[in-house]
Amino acid sequence: MPSVFDTAPAATAIPIHFASKATWPAIAAALPAPAQAFAKANGFAARPGACLTLPGADGAISDVIFGIENDDAKSRDLFRPGLLPGLLPDGTYRFANAPHDLRLATLAFALGSYRFGRYRKNEMPKVRLAPPDGVDAADIDRMAEAATLARDLINTPSNDMGPEELAGVAKHLAARFGASFNCIVGDDLVAQNFPLIHAVGMASTRAPRLIDFSWGDPAHPKVTLVGKGVCFDTGGLDLKPSSGMLIMKKDMGGAANVLALALMVMDAGLKVRLRVLIPAVENAVAGNAFRPLDIFKSRKGPTVEIGNTDAEGRLVLADALALADEETPELLVDLGTLTGAARVALGPDLPPYYTNDETLALDVARFAKAQNDPLWRLPLWAPYDAWLDSKVADINNAPSGGFAGSITCALFLQRFVERATAWLHVDIYGWTPSAKPARPEGGECQAARAIYALLSERYA
Ligand code: BES
Ligand code: MN
Ligand code: ZN
Repeated sequence: MPSVFDTAPAATAIPIHFASKATWPAIAAALPAPAQAFAKANGFAARPGACLTLPGADGAISDVIFGIENDDAKSRDLFRPGLLPGLLPDGTYRFANAPHDLRLATLAFALGSYRFGRYRKNEMPKVRLAPPDGVDAADIDRMAEAATLARDLINTPSNDMGPEELAGVAKHLAARFGASFNCIVGDDLVAQNFPLIHAVGMASTRAPRLIDFSWGDPAHPKVTLVGKGVCFDTGGLDLKPSSGMLIMKKDMGGAANVLALALMVMDAGLKVRLRVLIPAVENAVAGNAFRPLDIFKSRKGPTVEIGNTDAEGRLVLADALALADEETPELLVDLGTLTGAARVALGPDLPPYYTNDETLALDVARFAKAQNDPLWRLPLWAPYDAWLDSKVADINNAPSGGFAGSITCALFLQRFVERATAWLHVDIYGWTPSAKPARPEGGECQAARAIYALLSERYA
């Protein structure tokens, strides 16, 4: 993906002035009289998100003014400058003054330049930015490339992004950074004891698989990332209604974001031994599909009764988490689009996260805020653990009643993590339902940036 930055900007880079209602009069006063008159004639009043290009004497654009909230506004969208690439004509620009948060504004500009162009010659904006002083442009580029990877993977429909294609992308990424790559496919999943991954994926003509790659000095602390890679979720025999199925190409959003996070970690050269595990399956319907009431012995040992074939994400993650846990990582992170309940509780833009490590919980909250990658802690509420009881097996994958669906999913996963020093689970949505600044409609990079920043602090 080309960088949004023009690192050799001519002196002609067009200045963008950020103006709030409070600062606009002073900013206007410093403009030449015709520019002031032009802004007035256009009724420019520094409304947040309003953008006006000003003509110079030669008719070319001399300046841009862009409205942002007052400093003391009740809420400020620090990503609002992410609208700019979609508003401005092609060219190279520079920030004339600092918006509320210079680094986040720069990041927003980069994230807002994304378009999904795989199936249509699209109007990719060629709006470039001179890297603002004091901003780590390489780190912004890294984050933008990671977000592009996650978004492209999620936006690509399932016919072109099945388990095999997803594994191909992971293999390519691993090769780029010299990671060692392994993939267990189809019946080998049974032979190597991944019964739940196999059970969920076996009804598809596209074989299920477990993607596994490792990178970095084996002596460094072990950080393992696990991502839900359900390339399409029909619900299985507990079939989803068409409305519920309509965005289920995004059900590999956990895998996409784990790959995005891995890209950032490896590109930044963090001092970790990174391992990435992605159970990649399609939850399909066929005569050999797994059924409600089936019981499988999991990799870790407990028998799992299938209460609902649509609660498939936790099943494939259970076997992958069990494998990750076997080598006692210092930090075990899993991301997945696991429950509709998470969206009901917190909406699409604020994924819940779960951990029993208090330091980790505080760090996640801090970096989520700092990166404008919002996350909200929910509890691993032990009293609800009993809801997972089965009458015939050790555990049921879908408690009846449906209360606290995201929490009970997290509690299900917790049963498969025992040795890891710390465990973080994020129930992401992975999708922006309607465009917002820096967040175009469609697949979204969620949690990866916050966790990358956290890892950067711990393992720089
Ligand atoms: N992939 C879905 C979760 C999902 C649904 C995410 C809608 C985003 C939007 C997951 O596999 C699922 O179907 N979960 C069920 C669990 C239930 C059967 C216990 C759900 O949330 O309804
Ligand atoms: Mn499902
Ligand atoms: Zn799913």
